[in-house]
Amino acid sequence: MFSYFYPRIDLGIDLGTANTLIFVKGKGVLLNQPSIVTFDHVQRDIIAVGAESRAMMGKVHPELSTVRPIRDGVIADFDMTSGMLKRFIRMVVGPHKIPRNVVISLPNGVTDVEKRAVCAAIADMDARKVFLLSQPIAAAIGAGLNVKDSAGHMIVDIGGGTTQVAVISNSGIVVGETIKVAGDELTDCVIRYLKAQRRFLVGDRTGEEIKCRAGSVLPVPDIENFLARGRDLTIGKPRAIDLTPEEVRMA
Ligand SMILES: Nc1ncnc2c1ncn2[C@@H]1O[C@H](COP(=O)(O)OP(=O)(O)OP(=O)(O)O)[C@@H](O)[C@H]1O
Ligand SMILES: [Mg+2]
Repeated sequence: MFSYFYPRIDLGIDLGTANTLIFVKGKGVLLNQPSIVTFDHVQRDIIAVGAESRAMMGKVHPELSTVRPIRDGVIADFDMTSGMLKRFIRMVVGPHKIPRNVVISLPNGVTDVEKRAVCAAIADMDARKVFLLSQPIAAAIGAGLNVKDSAGHMIVDIGGGTTQVAVISNSGIVVGETIKVAGDELTDCVIRYLKAQRRFLVGDRTGEEIKCRAGSVLPVPDIENFLARGRDLTIGKPRAIDLTPEEVRMA
């Protein structure tokens, strides 16, 4: 009601399967947090979001759940997604400012109804205008390409849940394809490999760390071995094993 008196700021938001980023005009990227929510599933109250929520993963009591509300590029839990988004926006703008113009890119599998609902959720925070931008175009602008160019540019964006390939020209997507195989699938491969071949159990976080620290598609000379902590399934006790980059690549 008194929003007229509050200072307004312009935002750019990348709502991703794995990470959400918020850019503030004139200041840069002020938020880069995992798209994770911890909530009380009896009351459906959000307890924590982002990095705070990731730190709670696997450690919460039975009344709480820690989830990734966007899976494989599709919104799995709309209430949690919009609740998380609002909290992220609040973290960036602070209690006494409100968003003015907001540009947001959403995962490719989001339906039109969900797109409208996300826009409505942001408008609910008194934002003046909400614009949707497709991810390949946003990625192209981010990479410094001239998207208005009439020559074609090819964009390949490997995210957490989806990989998008698109050819763009004249500010639009000429041909585009989205597949549901991306970074998270590679993490799962590492986890499955360790379980099947080494009888060793690691969680999502360790699996991702192994992939990022020791993984590569082709041999790279200066990658070091990685000491992974997990549970040895043959003795049933926690242990650390040394993984070579070759082994991670094989996974
Ligand atoms: N150094 C790295 N090496 C390999 N993989 C990485 C590295 N850093 C991040 N990743 C992986 O990239 C993925 C996250 O990418 P990104 O933040 O672009 O996804 P997103 O935009 O949230 O997802 P989507 O585009 O599917 O909605 C994760 O699977 C993460 O493990
Ligand atoms: Mg993305």
